[in-house]
Amino acid sequence: METTLPFPFLISVPSTGLENIEGLTRGELSVLGCPFIEADSNLKDETWRSLRRNNADFHPHFDVSKLESKDDILNLLDRGARRVFVPVEKFSEYENEEFVARVAPVVTTPDLSVAKPQGLLITGFDPAAQDLEKFTEECKAKKVKDLFIKPVNGVDLEKFVEFAKKCSAVAILPSNRLTTDKADSSKLLLSKLIASYWKSDRADGLIPTVVCDEGGIALGMAYTSEDSIGEAIRSQAGVYQSRKRGLWVKGLTSGDTQELLGIGLDCDNDTLKFTVKQTGRFCHLPQSGCFGNLSGVSKLEKVLELRKESAPAGSYTARLFSDEKLLRAKIMEEAEELCDAKTASEIAFEAADLIYFALTRAVAAGVSLSDINRSLDEKSWKVKRRKGDAKGKWAEKEGIKTEGTSTAAPVAAPAAAPAPTQEPKNDRILMKRIDAANSAELTQALKRPSQKSSETIMKIIVPIIDEVRKGGDKAVLSYTHKFEKATSLTSPVLRAPFPKELMDIPPETIEAIDTSFENIRKFHAAQKEEKPLKVETMPGVVCSRFSRPIEAVGLYIPGGTAVLPSTALMLGVPAMVAGCKKIVFASPPRSDGRITPEIVYVAHKVGAESIVLAGGAQAVAAMAYGTESVSKVDKILGPGNQFVTAAKMFVSNDTNAGVSIDMPAGPSEVLVIADKDAEPAFVASDLLSQAEHGVDSQVILIGVDLSEEKLKAIEDEVHNQAVALPRVDIVRGSIAHSITISVKDVDEAMRISNEYAPEHLILHLNDPEAVVEKVTNAGSVFIGQWTPESVGDYSAGVNHSLPTYGYAKQYSGVNLASFVKHITSSNLTAEGLKNVGTAVMRLAAVEELEAHRRAVSIRLEHMAKKAQA
Ligand SMILES: *[C@@H]1O[C@H](CO)[C@@H](O)[C@H](O)[C@H]1NC(C)=O
Ligand SMILES: *[C@@H]1O[C@H](CO)[C@@H](O)[C@H](O)[C@H]1NC(C)=O
Ligand SMILES: *[C@@H]1O[C@H](CO)[C@@H](O)[C@H](O)[C@H]1NC(C)=O
Ligand SMILES: *[C@@H]1O[C@H](CO)[C@@H](O)[C@H](O)[C@H]1NC(C)=O
Ligand SMILES: *[C@@H]1O[C@H](CO)[C@@H](O)[C@H](O)[C@H]1NC(C)=O
Ligand SMILES: *[C@@H]1O[C@H](CO)[C@@H](O)[C@H](O)[C@H]1NC(C)=O
Repeated sequence: METTLPFPFLISVPSTGLENIEGLTRGELSVLGCPFIEADSNLKDETWRSLRRNNADFHPHFDVSKLESKDDILNLLDRGARRVFVPVEKFSEYENEEFVARVAPVVTTPDLSVAKPQGLLITGFDPAAQDLEKFTEECKAKKVKDLFIKPVNGVDLEKFVEFAKKCSAVAILPSNRLTTDKADSSKLLLSKLIASYWKSDRADGLIPTVVCDEGGIALGMAYTSEDSIGEAIRSQAGVYQSRKRGLWVKGLTSGDTQELLGIGLDCDNDTLKFTVKQTGRFCHLPQSGCFGNLSGVSKLEKVLELRKESAPAGSYTARLFSDEKLLRAKIMEEAEELCDAKTASEIAFEAADLIYFALTRAVAAGVSLSDINRSLDEKSWKVKRRKGDAKGKWAEKEGIKTEGTSTAAPVAAPAAAPAPTQEPKNDRILMKRIDAANSAELTQALKRPSQKSSETIMKIIVPIIDEVRKGGDKAVLSYTHKFEKATSLTSPVLRAPFPKELMDIPPETIEAIDTSFENIRKFHAAQKEEKPLKVETMPGVVCSRFSRPIEAVGLYIPGGTAVLPSTALMLGVPAMVAGCKKIVFASPPRSDGRITPEIVYVAHKVGAESIVLAGGAQAVAAMAYGTESVSKVDKILGPGNQFVTAAKMFVSNDTNAGVSIDMPAGPSEVLVIADKDAEPAFVASDLLSQAEHGVDSQVILIGVDLSEEKLKAIEDEVHNQAVALPRVDIVRGSIAHSITISVKDVDEAMRISNEYAPEHLILHLNDPEAVVEKVTNAGSVFIGQWTPESVGDYSAGVNHSLPTYGYAKQYSGVNLASFVKHITSSNLTAEGLKNVGTAVMRLAAVEELEAHRRAVSIRLEHMAKKAQA
């Protein structure tokens, strides 16, 4: 086996909504450290990696049958997947890879003949359909190693586990059928499951437990029972079974508590290991652990941490912590001395000095030794290796020649890791070329990535929406505490007037927001209909149409790590210009409970009534139905992730909500059309400004009759500009699935573009104005070489809330019309009713709606009588 699992089971969690796992909590899963995930192309690194939390011992496994791109699979391995299971027919693609030890085949029915030395995963395993004896025999006969089995829905989980044990397979257990709640008899109790794997040779049945710190240093020893381990996992704390006093929560009286980071069983199944983060000390004597004090690097770390808190003023350490230049100079100096050291003892001496200063730098920045260890471990799991070349000025100093502008980072290769023998395959950031003449390939390349199946998403969001409808503010708050970790928040709403201290932003940002605000306001004000439309369709029959603002609108501004004042502007300003009476913003707060100050400032400028401090489906539900403190709105607009989009669809479909929405949203896109006069550097910069949005960004270049030389020049620019970008990793991801299409002429280019219906269309053409005529489907068009997409994104005046995913065929982007509705009216004179009455009465008669007919005839008769009188 490539890795030893903490226990011979994995916990399967749904790839959708890792935020909202059933059965076990994220904390419990992180202590177990062994998730099993069916990956699809929407699975985000940060979501599954966050399941690890502080547990350095993390063993994520993935079924990658649904991933089409090998690069996505490499990416998972690169980010630390311990093992991926690929469909058996694709296994051969990996046979010659260095990392093949971490790839194994998956089959859906038990077929042991395809097992590989790396293992085998059988999904949909039904123990009832298997003869245990025969199956076990066959496993032995075929020498099957590392067998993983995943049950069909609805099996008896305990029986399944027994079966797995008998045939020495790793059982894959769904999280939603496990629990740590003893009162929940509908699920399998996690502590019972774990205890079924250990065996105690003690009369009292307790299991000796080695307690280690994060660095794996043994602090001491304690005992565990089925009860105590359940409690330990549930509370993620050091809970043991005292031989005299029953359940023992470490530190409950002394205050020297433990956070439980990870657990595992030893190779004999009779000893447990707990990895903990210890506050204070473990031992009752004045030493950090029962085997004495720390030494070496670990001791140094503790000393530095103490000094950082309270170094005597004027001491050398205090100076190092406060004087960045001094520390920098010392690190450089010691690095040089280490390089110059000759004998073994000199090298140890100098390396120790360098480590001392390096660790001071780390501790000063709040980085711990376990962060450093984790970073080392992560590097050892990498499969895509970069060149370890030295960088510019250091290379120059040592007289090393470097090629071009390589920015490859040096990568440590710990002994356990495969050495970087191969040249990296993917180092050049390059878009795939496609000839428009190959229509099959073209169609395939222009397909948008599939959105996650709405059914799974619905299953996640519908209960959230229900909770919010029933529980109001309390429910919204509890989701915000849970998802945004903003536990200090006591109200889900921030009302205007917004406090000044929440809008604390630099004057230059204020100026930029004000400029954009004014341009967006002007352009949208011009879209106002000055006078109602009035038409006399027949003498005396006047029809008119006039607009009225939608009264209350809810504007969703995505939050998290990104700061998106531009989205707030693009939605808020048109709402203000339209005259909406009530503008409600919603945005997920940061963990300190606050909203990005730029967004608060925009809310203030557009006269928003309030800001809902929540994200996701809960924010959408709060605005759609209203709560004690959130105002109900009539329309919800704004971009968001798939949960927000699905929640918007759901509420707009619920007649009880009485709320409408803007257009469906998908990943952002750009299509650039360039001819031989286009400047390669400009073209590349436009492609990259889309590519840096996110790895799922869609970037397409159509080259009109370009020479090989020109194409190459654009590709060179893409690569050279990309490697210099701070978000180069994201760009690498999005460019990997981006394409360049070669066409003969502008007509062919426009045919492809109109069919694709891009969100943003950029025309790098000799006569772009003439081509605008030919645009039939696009969100927004950027005309000519002096109009980069970024101006539209921020400041030109046009909005950037645009239809993606091909919806430009049916929808417009956000504009003034999104915030108003049109009302029509008719006003007839007696003459007019006479003129049109015959037609109305005839049609009413045909439809057999007598009252309709009479409403006219009664008036006509009245007129006739009056005329006679
Ligand atoms: C980091 O790794 C080193 C070497 O294995 C070990 O001695 C040290 O205890 C670890 N420290 C932490 C905090 O992980
Ligand atoms: C430990 O448990 C595993 C899984 O149940 C089993 O395969 C293994 O043989 C056991 N080892 C020992 C030494 O009992
Ligand atoms: C361990 O360190 C503590 C605090 O630094 C010190 O008071 C104690 O004497 C040390 N104990 C031993 C056994 O070295
Ligand atoms: C809309 O409502 C209908 C009827 O309640 C339901 O069948 C349908 O699945 C809903 N669609 C969405 C997108 O929620
Ligand atoms: C917003 O975008 C749409 C689509 O490009 C466009 O029709 C509309 O006029 C734009 N409105 C404003 C003012 O941004
Ligand atoms: C309705 O029509 C009558 C007669 O033409 C006119 O006097 C009146 O102003 C109209 N009312 C409105 C609201 O247009």
